[in-house]
Amino acid sequence: MDIFEIDGPVRLSGSIDVAGSKNSALPILAAALLAPGASTVSNAPDLADIRSLETLLESLGAKVLRNETGLHVDASVIDNPVGDYEIVRKMRASICILGPLLARCGKVKVSMPGGCAIGDRPVDIHLRGVKALGAKIYLENGYIVAEAPAGGLVGTQIFLGGPFGSTVLGTDNVMMAATLAKGTTVIESAACEPEVADLANCLNAMGAKITGIGSPRLVIEGVKKLNPIKYSIIGDRIEAGTFMVAAAITKGRLKINNCDLDHMLAVTDRLRFIGAEVEKTKTGCEVALDGPIHPADITTQPYPGFPTDLQAQFMALLALGEGNSVITEKIYPDRFMHVAELNRMAANLRKEGPSVIVAGVEKLIAAPVMASDLRASAALVLAGMAAQGMTTVQRVYHIDRGYHKIEERLNTVGAKIRRKNI
Ligand code: EPU
Repeated sequence: MDIFEIDGPVRLSGSIDVAGSKNSALPILAAALLAPGASTVSNAPDLADIRSLETLLESLGAKVLRNETGLHVDASVIDNPVGDYEIVRKMRASICILGPLLARCGKVKVSMPGGCAIGDRPVDIHLRGVKALGAKIYLENGYIVAEAPAGGLVGTQIFLGGPFGSTVLGTDNVMMAATLAKGTTVIESAACEPEVADLANCLNAMGAKITGIGSPRLVIEGVKKLNPIKYSIIGDRIEAGTFMVAAAITKGRLKINNCDLDHMLAVTDRLRFIGAEVEKTKTGCEVALDGPIHPADITTQPYPGFPTDLQAQFMALLALGEGNSVITEKIYPDRFMHVAELNRMAANLRKEGPSVIVAGVEKLIAAPVMASDLRASAALVLAGMAAQGMTTVQRVYHIDRGYHKIEERLNTVGAKIRRKNI
């Protein structure tokens, strides 16, 4: 098992490239299932989660090849529309094959995703959505079975709001299923995340008719068939945000390329409030912090609000703030596994229901810590770069799920991180 040894404190400076978006690539690769033939997705990151999806697509009958031009998915033959438990249990996002397989094959079985370190993550809204299109849904031995009616799925008006707002992958699933349904589907309370818009743009390039992209009201006029395509996905705004915090927490300066600052308005707002300079550049942005870290309150919300996937990283930053901050989770009220680990590094964090009171400390002190999930582990790496001494992060396979060789890339801008296999 790999660990990171991180020497701190360091001051990062230089230029760093953001990889393609993991959360765009996953549903866009699944969308390739909608079109018999060979599609190519470029700018897809080389990550453990993407490899899990590649394995899943192959298990369905598709042929997948990765080379320097991108990921090639040949979905000419899909003869086993089953999302196997062994793959789904490793990656919940596997649920994104539900919509395309239902539309393409008329029947699909996907293992019901189980529990997750960041909290309960039900899929009831996904199921409500495809049911509204006419699918029959039942559970069989831990598998969700969805069956389209004999005449195929039929467009209708669907409301996808839930207790925590809309659902990203649920919107993706219903939108993908609706592309091939008869008539018009209107999704109300659709997720507006840039990754959903990226998928919708990809589907339109395949021949779908979707309007309202990026808004909470998506209108999808069903078409008879979709065509395979070549598509390049957007830069990963969460990785970009993680690098922005890396610049700030190390009191450094980073040019961050291959990202769109327009996707990060809430993040930029909070960083500037905290005291960082954030400038838009031709290829992305430049972030620097030279001075105190001002405390700031943060509430996570659906897009365009502050993303839950950057909550842990900002907590590491605000742990070094000159005063008290309050961070509130409105998407995953239990997504606070990093709190106890950051406290092991001398942070002063106190959980109060869905909020954490962050009492800023003068310095963080290195300690052995344990990664619990993807974004929590990113927060520990950030804290390690700012802390005094050598921090050891265990279970770095969590970080490898979402960041490609993060230690090598951060080391090129001044970090001192060693990967060791123990
Ligand atoms: N929810 C329901 N019922 C549903 C679906 C969701 O109650 O049927 C709830 C969830 O429990 C949560 C909220 O609605 O409280 C939002 O969940 P959503 O469905 O939007 O999450 P997701 O689509 O499963 C994606 C990202 C997550 C990211 C969330 C929120 C992918 C592959 N994953 O998950 O990314 O946190 O949206 O923005 O796109 C990550 O990259 O670290 C990550 C966890």
